[in-house]
Amino acid sequence: METLRLYLHHFLSFYFSLAAIISQYLFSEFPKIQRFPIFVPVVEAILSLYFRFSCHLVQYTVDLDDQTTVHFWAPAQRKSNKPNLAMIHGYGANSKWQFFYQVGPLSESFNLYIPDLLFFGKSHTNCTNRTETFQAESVSAGLKALGVERCSVYCISYGGYVGYRMAEIYPEMVEKMVIVSSGIGCTEDQKEEQMKSVGCDVVDFLLPEKPEGLRRLMDLTVYKPNLFKWAPDFILQEFIEVMCNSNKKGKQELVEHLLENKSECDIQTLTHETLLIWGDKDNIFPLSFAHQLQRYISSRIAEN
Ligand SMILES: *[C@@H]1O[C@H](CO)[C@@H](O)[C@H](O)[C@H]1NC(C)=O
Ligand SMILES: *[C@@H]1O[C@H](CO)[C@@H](O)[C@H](O)[C@H]1NC(C)=O
Ligand SMILES: *[C@@H]1O[C@H](CO)[C@@H](O)[C@H](O)[C@H]1NC(C)=O
Repeated sequence: METLRLYLHHFLSFYFSLAAIISQYLFSEFPKIQRFPIFVPVVEAILSLYFRFSCHLVQYTVDLDDQTTVHFWAPAQRKSNKPNLAMIHGYGANSKWQFFYQVGPLSESFNLYIPDLLFFGKSHTNCTNRTETFQAESVSAGLKALGVERCSVYCISYGGYVGYRMAEIYPEMVEKMVIVSSGIGCTEDQKEEQMKSVGCDVVDFLLPEKPEGLRRLMDLTVYKPNLFKWAPDFILQEFIEVMCNSNKKGKQELVEHLLENKSECDIQTLTHETLLIWGDKDNIFPLSFAHQLQRYISSRIAEN
């Protein structure tokens, strides 16, 4: 499994470089030619194959009602000797891109349930509700429809807000929590300070329209050197088309709600056993947010 993952990683890096070189030759002369997305669909297809055949996950589309549909990656066959783990992605990509590195090793020990949040990947709603509570209820209803009574929750960034709400609303459904780099529990003032540090409109920052915008986003959010840095503009533009521009209005409204709505700052103290994982170089959610969140959580904390 480890070897396969490494191969896949190398393959993706190789594919990326090759696409970059070819594109320089082919397209530098004709920058205005309209192209169909090629790179992102190929990577999406490879990731789907990896999820399906290496991690034994299949896709489920759950219609919660006539307004809302939630898409999941979930085990083809649930193993009763493994615990359930729901993994909730952050803002930006869909579940496949977000959890590519984690899903292989974790699928060996857990029954994984990986939803796309509403307006990401293949999940959407015609409802006008943009609250994290609504996202949390949709994920929980989807899990119940898939027969999951209890699960632990691993959530990151925007997904952290959703996971936390899940634990608040359905304390009996959630076993343990893992929260990775999130802003849950921060105050209005902290929110404002962080928004200022971005140096431009947060919605534009999170949903870039141009390759340079995506590079800036990656510069601020990825610490280790990442593939995006050297990617040619046309690949970044493809990524923007596929990841940011689909359901863009809904995605915008989610951020606006999160940033503007004061009521979203109020959180309850959780009694669930919780692990906080933070990057000490995180520019968006500084380490002080983790210590603050720690105070809301009454159980054991592992510090690293
Ligand atoms: C939302 O509305 C559109 C157009 O009215 C419709 O095509 C689509 O099926 C609806 N989505 C859901 C999840 O019901
Ligand atoms: C959004 O949905 C949540 C959960 O169903 C509900 O508690 C809340 O009142 C709704 N908010 C709005 C503005 O519709
Ligand atoms: C904040 O949320 C409440 C309830 O979810 C809603 O009624 C209100 O309109 C929202 N306010 C803003 C500014 O989004």
